[in-house]
Amino acid sequence: MQAIIRTKGGKEFSTMKVQNIESPKTQSDELKVKMVSSRINPVDMDLMKGFPSLKYKIPQIGGIDGAGVVLEVGKNVNDFSVGDNVIFYRLFSDIGTWAEEITIPANYCAKIPSNIEVKEAGTIALPLLTAYDSLTQLNAKKGEKILIHGVGGGVGFQALQLAKQMGLFVIGTGSQSDKPVLDKAGLDQFIDYKTQDFSQVLKTKQVDYVFDVLGDDILKKSIALQPKKVVSVKFVDTSNYAQSGCKFARNYEMVDENDDG
Ligand SMILES: NC(=O)c1ccc[n+]([C@@H]2O[C@H](COP(=O)([O-])OP(=O)(O)OC[C@H]3O[C@@H](n4cnc5c(N)ncnc54)[C@H](OP(=O)(O)O)[C@@H]3O)[C@@H](O)[C@H]2O)c1
Repeated sequence: MQAIIRTKGGKEFSTMKVQNIESPKTQSDELKVKMVSSRINPVDMDLMKGFPSLKYKIPQIGGIDGAGVVLEVGKNVNDFSVGDNVIFYRLFSDIGTWAEEITIPANYCAKIPSNIEVKEAGTIALPLLTAYDSLTQLNAKKGEKILIHGVGGGVGFQALQLAKQMGLFVIGTGSQSDKPVLDKAGLDQFIDYKTQDFSQVLKTKQVDYVFDVLGDDILKKSIALQPKKVVSVKFVDTSNYAQSGCKFARNYEMVDENDDG
């Protein structure tokens, strides 16, 4: 079978090569999956460069998440059957998902609901888990207001859908071309980042929370709005913002080899 493998460090995709390798053997707690789709997440660029702290397994196949169809079920796995459509993500240090067939611990998998196409589901897992993990750190209450940056992107769009399920009023910054799908998902107020400056549109303390995916100036301007709490999925050194008095929910830091992404 074919897989896209990191052959040497470097942030360009030219460091990834398509190679023929053996299909992996299914262990007792694993599923073997025929891959259907996988997202290129921003962290894939970092993983191509290599995180010095990560001990990579070999072959170092690219990709963190994806979706596919179960081909084999390990003997200790009870919740899945051959033919199930599944979604999953992997440890950063593990073998990746850009291969025709992968094996993966069953407890990293979930069945895909019948109303979602398998090829579309391949873009969901890591952004959804990132958004869920971040939003639940805020302890937000129904009716409170949240500003989500990059609301049309991988993480932002999952955050929007979760925030609406939590009963929050969602203001989002994003691109005009994404507006129809954002409206459909229930976005309450849209700010087109290419033509509007959110920090001019919104008043101080107008939002209770900020969900940041961009960092730098966007984060600084967000903090100046004086929300109750900020969560950022960028690798932010929160000590730089200590003087602002801003409360951060848990932030994303560089992964270590045991981090599950
Ligand atoms: N993907 C993950 O699971 C994950 C996990 C942890 C951390 N992160 C971090 O989260 C960040 C976002 O990841 P992602 O997967 O959501 O990326 P993405 O899919 O590329 O989404 C980024 C979004 O931000 C929008 N955007 C760009 N500049 C903006 C601005 N100035 N104001 C408002 N919106 C702007 C982009 O719109 P246009 O494309 O129209 O310009 C795009 O929709 C990355 O830095 C990544 O390292 C991601």
